[in-house]
Amino acid sequence: MIYNKDKVFIPPFKMQGIKSKIVPLIKASVLMDDDTTWIEPFMGSAAVGLNVAGKNAVFADINPHIIDFYNRLKSGAVTPNVVREFLSEQGTLLAEKGGEHYYFVRERFNNEHNPLDFLFLNRSCFNGMIRFNKNNGYNVPYGHKPGRFAKAYITKIVNQVKHFEEKIRHNNWTFLCQPFEKTIASADGNVFIYCDPPYIGRHVDYYDSWNEEQEVRLKTCLLESKARFLLSTWDSNRYRSNPYISLLWNEYNKITQEHFYFVGAKEHNRNSMTEALLTNF
Ligand SMILES: C[S@@+](CC[C@H](N)C(=O)[O-])C[C@H]1O[C@@H](n2cnc3c(N)ncnc32)[C@H](O)[C@@H]1O
Repeated sequence: MIYNKDKVFIPPFKMQGIKSKIVPLIKASVLMDDDTTWIEPFMGSAAVGLNVAGKNAVFADINPHIIDFYNRLKSGAVTPNVVREFLSEQGTLLAEKGGEHYYFVRERFNNEHNPLDFLFLNRSCFNGMIRFNKNNGYNVPYGHKPGRFAKAYITKIVNQVKHFEEKIRHNNWTFLCQPFEKTIASADGNVFIYCDPPYIGRHVDYYDSWNEEQEVRLKTCLLESKARFLLSTWDSNRYRSNPYISLLWNEYNKITQEHFYFVGAKEHNRNSMTEALLTNF
């Protein structure tokens, strides 16, 4: 298959905070050669590494479910065909039963943790959100789109899975469920670390909460690693600036890009946010 090198590939999972829109800026800002190992301690959906990592990469996160999906893709236990069949079957049931089926799968997922159920929920829940309560239970409500899994939509997801699978097959990519401290401590040699931690105080999710103590610890870990790094954070919005940039990250280089995110169809509901990339090189 021939790919346009400027195309941004989208992973099969949606999530809040996904960085697909600033992938071109990140790609233009990294400092890597062909032998550099890409280290991504907060991989989320892995949208960034999918587009930027080379042949060696370590992806990690404390949320086990996307990691489990990618590891099964790597081992061959999940394939694009398995995904197509699963989503067709579950999509038919969703079209027939609507919310009743969504909540049935949500309960099944919370008991059995099948990553295919997680993909189905992620693509049929409210706004493609990933949110867990303190008992690790996935608790996002139904997105109220019973006809969601039309053939074209399933094909779109299957193609995303196929592309990810090809990347895994042709490269030496590892997926680990572990906290950022461990991932950064193991980064050694010719590595490049890309960090995209949750934004402080923005989320109330079990896996996605973040506070000042963690931000300080992240800085300490990055300094100890002595590796080149790029950190994604928010710079400012209409109302305020991120105080931690001047408090903690002042000595680093800052690249910014404004991006619009949509909270509604009407123009006055569109908020712009300036994203910041901080680098130590
Ligand atoms: C903003 S999201 C990353 C989004 C990702 N860049 C993308 O494009 O999909 C932050 C991620 O950090 C993970 N996370 C939160 N606390 C963590 C920790 N202590 N160690 C490792 N990962 C953590 C969350 O589970 C979440 O997936």
